[in-house]
Amino acid sequence: MPAKTAKKATKKTAAPKKAPVKKAAVKAAPKAPAAKKPYTFEKSKELFLRAAKVIPGAIYGHQSPVLTVPGSFPYYAAKAEGPYYWDVDGNKFIDYMCGYGPMITGYNNPVVDAAARAEQANGDCYNHPTGRMVELAEFLTDLIPFADWAVFAKNGSDVTTWATLVAREATGRKKIVMCKGEYHGAHAWCTPGHGGLIDEDRAQMLYYKWNDLAGLRALFDRYPDQIAGVIMTPFHHPTFADLELPAPGFWQGVQKLCNDKGAVLILDDVRCGFRLSVKGSQDYFGFEPDISCYCKAIANGYVLSAAVGRDSLKNAASSVFLTGSYWNGAVPMAAALANIKLLQKENGVAHMFKMGELLMNGLIERGKAFGYEMIASGPTTIPFIHFGNETNFMRMQTWCAELTVRGHFCHPSHNWFISAAHQPEDIAATLDAAEEAFKVVKKEYGD
Ligand SMILES: Cc1ncc(COP(=O)(O)O)c(C=O)c1O
Repeated sequence: MPAKTAKKATKKTAAPKKAPVKKAAVKAAPKAPAAKKPYTFEKSKELFLRAAKVIPGAIYGHQSPVLTVPGSFPYYAAKAEGPYYWDVDGNKFIDYMCGYGPMITGYNNPVVDAAARAEQANGDCYNHPTGRMVELAEFLTDLIPFADWAVFAKNGSDVTTWATLVAREATGRKKIVMCKGEYHGAHAWCTPGHGGLIDEDRAQMLYYKWNDLAGLRALFDRYPDQIAGVIMTPFHHPTFADLELPAPGFWQGVQKLCNDKGAVLILDDVRCGFRLSVKGSQDYFGFEPDISCYCKAIANGYVLSAAVGRDSLKNAASSVFLTGSYWNGAVPMAAALANIKLLQKENGVAHMFKMGELLMNGLIERGKAFGYEMIASGPTTIPFIHFGNETNFMRMQTWCAELTVRGHFCHPSHNWFISAAHQPEDIAATLDAAEEAFKVVKKEYGD
């Protein structure tokens, strides 16, 4: 029924005037929740078909919809606000992917955007860096205990690759160690893709298994004085698998091993940075790397990455060429300053942990009622959840699709992201939608 008619009908049936009733005694009749139609994605599909003609792969990288149920996910966004975004079909979502990490204080955060706009009023791209770069470097080196210097770029891959070169420059060694299955970016030495690679790209790479300190030590024994650096994420976050936290003492052991063997310890905090501690994830896990790399959440979606490091690597850092057409841009740096200060002021990290905990505990609880054991792993600010003892991956895909067509955007095989803009009422709404999604998969796939 159109809203106008409904309003009129209410007026007509209103009770005739009687003696005034005390306000507190008046209780609105509980409204039956409007049955929402599941979302459809016609405009997304239309754009996707157009894109397929002019863009290789149509949507590439991890944003590709290949892992989702066709027709049940939006492919193109239109606008966003706080923890919500709207797709090109006008569907509104509570967003649990946060742009795959960058959104941390809420889309269009007024404080961050005001700082960016004020900077933009002067300009962004010049012949020179601006004072904002110096200010941000000072701010980060004050904030992050082990950091004595900072440099800036645009993507996570820019700084992770650059950090490995600094390790080589500082040590005069060639080999870089990384964990099997870890993601450090799209460059040849580490991309998970296959196209265009040659054997030489990875000739100096060594691999070990997450949490296997003995395995890492064995690499140092096997390649004495050859390992320039070890690059690792704060915890293991592969796709399609549970997230693995560091075993007790693991990080401290890695730090000591790198120190003893003269190798540079590089923390790739591109994905987790500012979601575990505002001072960086090493602060959360109680160790200190030699270089840390940031991107994603540093500027709440403004385009910026950074690496910070120890004084002992400053000479090497200044010897490794570092530049890009837009890398001095002032606007993202102003945004980063405002964003991190806001996170500090509002204790955003603690809030994210609380919201993530509500969500994960709630999903586990709701799943139980349907006989499902949901497995949540990782810190609750960057969680991953899936069906336990699963042999049918379509169940997880369908469950996420059912959440998405109800306005709760999530991913079946990638970790989710919580932001400081999510509120308990968002989580409560998602838990109710999850219950509906559990009903659907139960009916479709059984136990
Ligand atoms: C841990 C990690 N390192 C590096 C990168 C690469 O960052 P970018 O995509 O900005 O190049 C990512 C991106 O997802 C990441 O998660």
